Amino acid sequence: MRVERPPFSGRRIVLGVTGGIAAFKSIGLARELTLAGSAVDVVPTAAAFEFVRPLSFEALTGRSVLSDLYAPGDPLLHIRLAREADLVLIAPATANFIAQAAAGMADHLLGCILLATKAPVLFAPAMNDRMYTHPQTQANLARLQEIGYHVAGPAEGLLAFGERAGPGRMIEPDELMEWAARSLTGETPLSGKRVIVTAGPTREPIDPVRFLGNRSSGRMGFSLASAAWRMGADVLLVSGPSPLRTPAGVRRIEIETAIEMADAVRRHLNRSDVLIMAAAVADFRPVSTRDQKIKKQGDSIPEIVLEHTPDVLGSTMSLRKPGAVVVGFALETENPIENATKKLRDKRLDLLVVNDAGEPGAGFEVPTNRVTLLHASGQREDLPLLSKDEVAERILERVAQRLVAGE
Ligand code: CTP
Repeated sequence: MRVERPPFSGRRIVLGVTGGIAAFKSIGLARELTLAGSAVDVVPTAAAFEFVRPLSFEALTGRSVLSDLYAPGDPLLHIRLAREADLVLIAPATANFIAQAAAGMADHLLGCILLATKAPVLFAPAMNDRMYTHPQTQANLARLQEIGYHVAGPAEGLLAFGERAGPGRMIEPDELMEWAARSLTGETPLSGKRVIVTAGPTREPIDPVRFLGNRSSGRMGFSLASAAWRMGADVLLVSGPSPLRTPAGVRRIEIETAIEMADAVRRHLNRSDVLIMAAAVADFRPVSTRDQKIKKQGDSIPEIVLEHTPDVLGSTMSLRKPGAVVVGFALETENPIENATKKLRDKRLDLLVVNDAGEPGAGFEVPTNRVTLLHASGQREDLPLLSKDEVAERILERVAQRLVAGE
């Protein structure tokens, strides 16, 4: 189903496909970009036709595949495509094509478009690991970045048949969609800003096999990390145990306990422009952790004595960079607004996101959320039930406004 969405809807994308086995993945990518609302002009190199046929792309994009620099009737095709494009995405980008682009060679349509365009350019390298790690390829990739092109991946993993696993796999189309979204979004107040997002539950060990935890899945925090990166930020995600995939471009630090989360946040805080504490940090932990598993011993039931965990958010107050924007979350079951307003003041927050625990479709283990945003200014916004991705975008729009106001 076609679900048009920003920043893809109404945009023009040149999808360059070069001659590697990963070219088959670009068929799915062309489809995703089209479904999201972009007009996709697929421009394969001659070698790409050894792996994929034009008809596959044409059937999915509804547009002609273009590859002939000298096609009669449209002598300025390369200039027109280059000028109209909002993004040029080369996926897969072979070692050979990367070398040509680094040297500015333009003996084919795709090379000419690269030289003629002012749009952002994104390369998704795909090749054998030895070809990727070769100093010549590394130098060529460094040159592409110097020029201002973006390089997404490659990932580690299984390469062609009979080869060992290594770096060289093209990143998957869903991750490339995130890279494309960041390029299409362009400059925002978050561009180049350092953002820390905490996510997921913490686990406070009782013995080697048991812990105190909670139902947080990490979804809200992961959506925030992904949205912040899409808006141009440099994102560090400090996450408790979560099965979710690390969003494209985001650096993830995995922690288990509240103390580990506090350490990780404090280590990176003084250089950060934004801190978003979406994690469900355990408020209590066992005073002591047993070295061995607690055994059932007759009828006796062990007593677990608890103590407070460190308040991660509260403990950052003296360490925050001046002007940093700080966002907290609160899950309240009674008097949500009064309690939350106190938290906003006590923890010196710019924004507090209040989850109403009793609300259907909100809170833990669901993909949607209904929240109220409380601003330091006293302003209150009740958002409707939205997907967690949409809630994340709303929160980051407010963060962006605070960054602009504080400049
Ligand atoms: N938080 C934290 N460290 C803790 C507990 C909570 O940093 N040990 C953070 C959460 O990530 C959230 C905010 O503080 O952003 C509020 O969390 P919440 O548990 O609702 O508030 P508490 O301050 O723990 O207060 P209470 O449990 O009394 O509601």
